[in-house]
Amino acid sequence: MWKVSLCDLRLHPDDHRAVAEALTSNWLTMGPRTQAFEDAFALALDPVAPPFAFAVSNCTVALHMAYSALDIGPGDEVIVPSLTFVATANAALYTGATVVLCDVAAADDLTLSVDDVLAKITPRTRAVAPVHYAGQPADLRRLVAECQRRGIAVVEDVAHAPLCDALVADGQPRALGTIGDVGCFSFFSNKNMTTGEGGMVTTRDPHIADKLRLLRSHGMTTLTLDRHRGHAYSYDVVALGNNYRMDELRAALGASQLARLPDNNRKRTEVVACYLPLLRRIPGLEVPFADRLPQGRSSPHILPVLLPAGVDRQRVQQGMKDAGVQTSVHYPPIHTFTLYKDSDRVRADHLPVTEAVAPRLLTLPLYPDLSEAEVQLVCRSLAAVVQAADAGVSP
Ligand SMILES: Cc1ncc(COP(=O)(O)O)c(C=O)c1O
Repeated sequence: MWKVSLCDLRLHPDDHRAVAEALTSNWLTMGPRTQAFEDAFALALDPVAPPFAFAVSNCTVALHMAYSALDIGPGDEVIVPSLTFVATANAALYTGATVVLCDVAAADDLTLSVDDVLAKITPRTRAVAPVHYAGQPADLRRLVAECQRRGIAVVEDVAHAPLCDALVADGQPRALGTIGDVGCFSFFSNKNMTTGEGGMVTTRDPHIADKLRLLRSHGMTTLTLDRHRGHAYSYDVVALGNNYRMDELRAALGASQLARLPDNNRKRTEVVACYLPLLRRIPGLEVPFADRLPQGRSSPHILPVLLPAGVDRQRVQQGMKDAGVQTSVHYPPIHTFTLYKDSDRVRADHLPVTEAVAPRLLTLPLYPDLSEAEVQLVCRSLAAVVQAADAGVSP
């Protein structure tokens, strides 16, 4: 249907082999393959000092576990950017906490505004959840320092940015998801690496790690695998956990995908570099993050652009569809959703940058094997469609 789709999932023969081997292993629930995947993921994040890493069912539950492990609950406040996927905020609501929505930094930096976070901190603030939107690091150097000073936790939403580095206080690059108190990754089907549905939660703090381990599996002190191996006969339940486990099929796919992630991230980075000069030629179009320098490894996930102010986005999307190019919008801001407008556990004041950029946002196709010819087609189509929509004529 599409000449160029928004994302493209190309599984490698190694992926098929890994899942087939897991299927024949006679052990399907969380077991040795999950452990091996966790170990490999932690080492990929930081080969020198790997964090604790727990594979889970998806990033939404990783966020729920993170907030729960920090003992966040009713009466507490969690600050989340309004410009994110709704799961970042929903997971805080699950705990009974209040969500305080903050603004993004600027039209060319769609990660959270640390100034706005600081303005919205109250004595009830327990955590801030920076989102590394589009695979671009939020300003963790400043955010973590400000939060540490106040005893507020930082829960990184790393759904878009696996194996991306940011500079920390000592000027060294460190992997996103290992800089705040907890990191939450997504392996949903359209992400930079996938297990179909899946996620990972990481921390460097051994006390938080103990809690995450319990919260993932019913708060039980032993696992089915421990009992199968004869290492335990029974168990106690010491926390109100969930079943948020990953299984062996997904873990096998995850380990196989992880092996190719650095190469795929590099290809995504090259595709973005191919886009930029062409997009810069479209009058009135802005490309967030375009002037950013990488701070180590980069991991672009989506390619958002800002349409010229006043251009009808729906007309542009229709024109792009007619040209065979799929586009999307990341994201309708959370404060515009009915659930969030109606809730007395949500505060959403003063979000001027989010309000200004939201109607202009458009996401263009981005995946590792997008060819130069396809990038040219997308940009040619966009230039024509924007010009026509701007002039108010049919593209
Ligand atoms: C920024 C962000 N956070 C959280 C999630 C939730 O991830 P999952 O689908 O793995 O639960 C997503 C998924 O799209 C996301 O984009």
